[in-house]
Amino acid sequence: MKSRVHWIYGSGLIGSYLGGVLSQRHEVAFVGRPLWNERLINGFTLADYTGAKASFRATPAQIHTHLPEQLENAVIWLTVKCTALNEVLAELQSKLGNGCTLICCQNGIGSVESVKAHLPHCTVIQGIVGFNVVWDSECSELRRSTEGVLALETGSTDNLQPGWLSCDRTTLLPVFWPQDMEAYCWAKLQLNLANAVNALADVPIRDMLQNRHYRSIIATLMDELLLVAKTQQLKLPQLTKVPAHWIPRLLRLPNWLFRRIASKMLDIDPTARSSMWWDLQAGKTTEVQYLNGAVVQIGKQLGVPCPANDTITQWVQNITVKCPKAGNSTQISPKQLKTAILG
Ligand SMILES: NC(=O)c1ccc[n+]([C@@H]2O[C@H](COP(=O)([O-])OP(=O)(O)OC[C@H]3O[C@@H](n4cnc5c(N)ncnc54)[C@H](OP(=O)(O)O)[C@@H]3O)[C@@H](O)[C@H]2O)c1
Repeated sequence: MKSRVHWIYGSGLIGSYLGGVLSQRHEVAFVGRPLWNERLINGFTLADYTGAKASFRATPAQIHTHLPEQLENAVIWLTVKCTALNEVLAELQSKLGNGCTLICCQNGIGSVESVKAHLPHCTVIQGIVGFNVVWDSECSELRRSTEGVLALETGSTDNLQPGWLSCDRTTLLPVFWPQDMEAYCWAKLQLNLANAVNALADVPIRDMLQNRHYRSIIATLMDELLLVAKTQQLKLPQLTKVPAHWIPRLLRLPNWLFRRIASKMLDIDPTARSSMWWDLQAGKTTEVQYLNGAVVQIGKQLGVPCPANDTITQWVQNITVKCPKAGNSTQISPKQLKTAILG
């Protein structure tokens, strides 16, 4: 595995961070847009919230705008958003040869299945990025801004046993190998359901969490997911300080008690917003269909109605469609939003 080249396909925030850290031990190449290619060539600091730092600069030979033809025996880290997957799959189908391993790093549910269906001759595994990465243009720093690990599915083939990625001893990239990757994905999805609320609330995540109306919406979205997961007999692992099924109860506490008990949840950058909010502001299609929308879709297959996730998915999609310009704002009060989503 060590001698295989690691290709980062879609080097934005996550891809450039992973590629930068991986290059300490592996040969890495990047496929990305001009803006990120320039950043990679100019060089930047890789940093994390603990203060660990490393510098990274790519050589021009590492930078690409497309994958080369007939790529064989490579590891491809797919780090585009879910919304770019269809376009990317067409290119992968025509260019990937034998012995390739793809690691799908998309949030939500459904990407891995889609990649597996299109590329049956490749080994496809799920990667879950459990931390946020932000770009600080003032000091050219790509920073892992929160706790969390890179969770990687293990595989029986291709030597994909825990530890195959000889990179898991750097604090910049803690790696974890869950036993039940499906349950792990659903546990991560539970936390990501709040992204849509943040996008519609149009306030920083910290302000959103201090408002009980917003917290009740998130709690109901999570209740629906927990029922869908239970119906699939998934045992969700604990990714936060409290077990998955306690989180909605915590969120519903009155403000004074929530602040006291869940102060750690509020210990975040006061300006941070969800990537879905950023996508809406940029007039981009969001990943909501793969997050809240996936809960609705799988709930439907199992006979578990998920009306709150359904409403919020449609709401975010309508904004994406109706306001394809920057500056979207729902301009709706927390109470109105709660009534609209929860009825
Ligand atoms: N950012 C985080 O902190 C974070 C944390 C956890 C999980 N995630 C998940 O990780 C995934 C990636 O997120 P991200 O924040 O890294 O997204 P991102 O910053 O938008 O990076 C993706 C990059 O891929 C580029 N791209 C798309 N199609 C391409 C193509 N055909 N060829 C070359 N480049 C292409 C995009 O360019 P265009 O924008 O021009 O299309 C963009 O620069 C998402 O599923 C996200 O939910 C993100």
